[in-house]
Amino acid sequence: MSANRPAAVVVLAAGEGTRMKSKTPKVLHEIAGRSLVGHVVSAARELEPEDLVVVVGHARELVKGHLDEQYAGTRTAVQEEQNGTGHAVRMALQELGRTPEGTVVVVCGDTPLLSGETLRALAGTHAADGNAVTVLTAEVPDSTGYGRIVRDPASGAVTEIVEHKDASDEQRAIKEINSGVFAFDGALLADALGKVRTDNSQGEEYLTDVLSILREAGHRVGASVAADHREILGINNRVQLAEARALLNARLLERAMLAGVTVVDPASTFVDVTVTFEADATVLPNTLLLGATHIAEDAVVGPNTRLKDTTVARGARVDNTVADTAVVGEGASVGPYAYLRPGTNLGAKSKAGTYVEMKAAVIGEGTKVPHLSYVGDATIGEYTNIGAASVFVNYDGETKHHTTVGSHCKTGSDNMFVAPVTIGDGAYTAAGSVITKDVPPGALAVARGQQRNIEGWVARKRPGSAAAQAAVNATEKSAGES
Ligand code: UD1
Ligand code: MG
Repeated sequence: MSANRPAAVVVLAAGEGTRMKSKTPKVLHEIAGRSLVGHVVSAARELEPEDLVVVVGHARELVKGHLDEQYAGTRTAVQEEQNGTGHAVRMALQELGRTPEGTVVVVCGDTPLLSGETLRALAGTHAADGNAVTVLTAEVPDSTGYGRIVRDPASGAVTEIVEHKDASDEQRAIKEINSGVFAFDGALLADALGKVRTDNSQGEEYLTDVLSILREAGHRVGASVAADHREILGINNRVQLAEARALLNARLLERAMLAGVTVVDPASTFVDVTVTFEADATVLPNTLLLGATHIAEDAVVGPNTRLKDTTVARGARVDNTVADTAVVGEGASVGPYAYLRPGTNLGAKSKAGTYVEMKAAVIGEGTKVPHLSYVGDATIGEYTNIGAASVFVNYDGETKHHTTVGSHCKTGSDNMFVAPVTIGDGAYTAAGSVITKDVPPGALAVARGQQRNIEGWVARKRPGSAAAQAAVNATEKSAGES
């Protein structure tokens, strides 16, 4: 348990986010594989608070449902009407049902770039300085719309926070802004919230007023300036959503590169927060790595590749591929132009080649499916070669059936394996076969019509055609040669 473990973290997420122009509530929009509120909750969890309360209001069933499903253990407090940030925190304390003893951290649900590290630093400063309130501030190039941090000219101490709409021209020139992130003494916060008034331009209970209320009562008020102002970027519209996505992506890739991953083109590489790498993995341009994807040492993925929840083992090569919930074994080769669907498991040194689609397919070590094939609902043993243009016919129109192919088999090109069917170890099948019956180990299966040549057919049926003339020429030529 960390020394600065707060009593509670309150996440404000009741607002509608009208500027998103969306049927989805703002805090449920996603970047890098996580909802906006999910990013904030994840950062808040790093503080290991005794309670984590998210204040919900607009579309609260959706937001609560999302939190219950993905962030179990998170409590929600309902704010029926959005009467301001101070009112929202009041609702959170009411939900807790007690005056929190110790620190209460308040964050907004729409600042996805805020890191757990920054929150820890804020809680640390707050405790070390013995403050009643510590506000996280930032110097921003354009402070329009934000609450401004007003400091005493002589001492430099923070005296109040003035909302943009309530600020004088002189105050509007201030570049230091309120990030919306605070650490409070819980008991003092509860007390001060009872004194917050609504005589401001928006007629709301401003949480920011707590700061001047506590100061005027003689309590210590502090500010901690964020090292990087971009971390407190609040999302209000989709331009900012894209901006945050780019910043977060750059941060994730930077972390990976510093840990030994080669990212050839960060500008065209997109990763989710849940993706993991080993040192000496390489990512080529135009690649999306999503969900719980893992790229191991010496593996090379991309270009033009999208992997979701996929594991790529050491030394594997995945080129121009789309994969979802697949496992690519050590030294295996995938693509170019492969599609691996859920349940694909490629053994070590195996191959899913060009224009190959697989689903629920377990492929043994060293087995190759090099060209133009569909392998669905199948188990293939080791060191087998599947001929080009083969289809594992798994669906009879009602049910899916399974095909088993043994080890060290060589199946011919253009085979149909009509499931359920089993090919024994070491068996061969002839090109163009439609395999409907089991093939015993070591047998050659031939399942196609016999070829028959009807001599002179073209001369009789297509007289005078170019084909007929070509045939005459060929006959004369071979006669001359003999
Ligand atoms: C707020 C701050 C401002 C700060 C800015 C940082 C106040 C009064 N102002 O302004 O100083 O610079 O954030 O981004 O605190 N919310 C509720 N219930 C409410 C109102 C808001 O849950 O009744 C939530 C919103 O969903 C949002 C957050 O609180 O997540 C901030 O609210 P918002 O309306 O965006 O406040 P700002 O005007 O941006
Ligand atoms: Mg805002």
